[in-house]
Amino acid sequence: MNGFDSSTQKVPACGDVPRHVAIIMDGNGRWAKRRFLPRIAGHKRGVEAVRRTVTACAESGVEFLTLFAFSSENWRRPAEEVSFLMQLFAVALEQEVAKLHENGIRLRVVGDLSPFEPRLVRLIQAGERQTADNRGLTLTVAANYGGRWDIVQAMNRMIAAHPEKAGQYSEQDLAPWLAMNHAPEPDLFIRTGGEQRISNFLLWQLAYTELHFTDTLWPDFDAKALAAAMDSYRRRERRFGRTSEQLTASTVPPPAVSEAAGS
Ligand code: IPE
Ligand code: IPE
Ligand code: MG
Repeated sequence: MNGFDSSTQKVPACGDVPRHVAIIMDGNGRWAKRRFLPRIAGHKRGVEAVRRTVTACAESGVEFLTLFAFSSENWRRPAEEVSFLMQLFAVALEQEVAKLHENGIRLRVVGDLSPFEPRLVRLIQAGERQTADNRGLTLTVAANYGGRWDIVQAMNRMIAAHPEKAGQYSEQDLAPWLAMNHAPEPDLFIRTGGEQRISNFLLWQLAYTELHFTDTLWPDFDAKALAAAMDSYRRRERRFGRTSEQLTASTVPPPAVSEAAGS
């Protein structure tokens, strides 16, 4: 087990502030296009939105923030854009890791790192190592990540470790092998840029996550936009399969003893 409750095995405790926020940072290209700028200008601006979001989440008491930076399907983009995004990731790591560390933030990167240049892999590993013991916000960057890749890599490693259990594997057996085993399942998912799809993000982990879609383009995302998503989250009734009446009943305090005894 990874120490975090699975939403399908046990109803997790939920507070007003999401413990884990996962974001698809979308709309950089359109942000740039509207300004007659090249797409890469939107990606550059997107880094500033990342900085604002990390700060706002840490200040709001969010414990885990997971950002989708590059999907396993984003290799299909023009080679120049892919190469710019890789370079931007490396520069951001070089410039930001020290600041993350000063602020007690723990950095994790999930995804298939094997196609990345060795220099980028070294920067990722150094950043993770330097911040590993930090106890503040855990910032996970999903890079060359795909939800299907994650489930398949987890399955392969689980089977290699426990071939004797063939035919008997359970959800709990797979969970520790998934790339996000260091975090609870996301409470709140946000996608900027107006599209309403998951685009192969955390397929397994989003089972009971509250979804919030906003037209705000990622480079414009800020503390106010985050607060709007959090407000929407607070108004949701998270039932996890139960009825609304069951939830109300469990929050109403039991009747006083004398009343219950009918006196
Ligand atoms: C999200 O912005 C960034 C990445 C996928 C890397 P896009 O580049 O997808 O922006 P749009 O969707 O074209 O506006
Ligand atoms: C999803 O955005 C991936 C990231 C934000 C990294 P895309 O812009 O690639 O998604 P699609 O292609 O529109 O579904
Ligand atoms: Mg997009």
